[in-house]
Amino acid sequence: MTEAILLVGGKGTRLRPLTVNTPKPMVPAAGVPFLTHQLARARAAGVEHIVLATSYLAEVFEPHFGDGSDLGLSLEYVTEEEPLGTGGAIRNVASRLHSGPDEPVLIFNGDILTGLDIQALVSTHSSSGADVSLHLTRVEDPRAFGLVPTDATGRVTAFLEKPQTPEEIVTDQINAGAYVFKRSVIDSIPTGRPVSVERETFPELLSAGAHLQGMVDSTYWLDLGTPQAFVRGSADLVLGRAPSPAVPGRCGDRLVLPSARVAPDAKLTGGTVVGADAVVGEGARLTGSVLLAGAVVEPGAVITDSLIGAGARIGARTVVSGAVIGDGARVGPDNELREGVRVWCDTTLPAGAVRFSSDQ
Ligand code: GTP
Repeated sequence: MTEAILLVGGKGTRLRPLTVNTPKPMVPAAGVPFLTHQLARARAAGVEHIVLATSYLAEVFEPHFGDGSDLGLSLEYVTEEEPLGTGGAIRNVASRLHSGPDEPVLIFNGDILTGLDIQALVSTHSSSGADVSLHLTRVEDPRAFGLVPTDATGRVTAFLEKPQTPEEIVTDQINAGAYVFKRSVIDSIPTGRPVSVERETFPELLSAGAHLQGMVDSTYWLDLGTPQAFVRGSADLVLGRAPSPAVPGRCGDRLVLPSARVAPDAKLTGGTVVGADAVVGEGARLTGSVLLAGAVVEPGAVITDSLIGAGARIGARTVVSGAVIGDGARVGPDNELREGVRVWCDTTLPAGAVRFSSDQ
């Protein structure tokens, strides 16, 4: 059976302060570390052996997932001494692979939530005889992504990083962060220095005449790299819009972990998740939001499309919308925090300190 490499070593800078204490793949989405969803989906597709390529905060993965047997997997961990980038990380775990030179190896970015048909990607790879096959997805605004145009047979014709001008936007197909590599291609990546698979390996393979095959699959796809996307992804998992065998409970409007306490008249909607030991006070309203473990929401607070970090506290009547509140932060009563604001871990905002609207 096909084995896989999961890239989980990035610093997750766009997701700070969530990633100050926790690497991005370990931030809980729908009640479990995000990585759990990816591992469970890979297992459901028949993958049994997975190597995790770790770097940033590498020490937290193994104590949580162990040898993987709870998920029916055999997991191995390899840590880079210095971050090696996506390509360097793939090369660095090659010695742990069991596959022969012509056999396929799956590779996943550790921050993508998708309903991709993993087996279909492997089949496309073997039927096309490609050296590397890539999952491609279509997006409305491709400017923040790497574009991957293909010819009529699906063969990749170019890699265009983050196009800006209308002339550069030649396709709406982007690299969706899941690949199948012929094992021998992994062994050909240079060792001992950082390599970007997107900016270096793929363009070089293409100019050397290698066969790179794209598979457009327009199923659910979300890059959880930003706070807004992360909160959206968690809500979509809870609502059942994004598929995962690892959601700890029934899909629906809300997910409340067993040790959480929620006041009977609090309103939880839009895929909100209340983490272990978190507390929601009377009359609070939470929509499409994530409360991490031990967070406290005092009575009458209104939280929308936001992520409240572990052990953070939101004061009474405070409004939080489109925001990230870091672990252990304390936001006093009667504040108003809106679109894009990030409150750093362990900081304190006094009562009534920040408003967007008039206080009249
Ligand atoms: P940002 O800093 O917010 O861009 O996030 P990131 O560090 O995760 O980078 P990016 O989203 O581009 O990374 C894509 C995937 O590759 C993620 O799953 C990362 O965890 C992983 N990754 C990026 N750089 C490295 C690295 O140097 N080593 C390893 N092992 N994985 C990496």
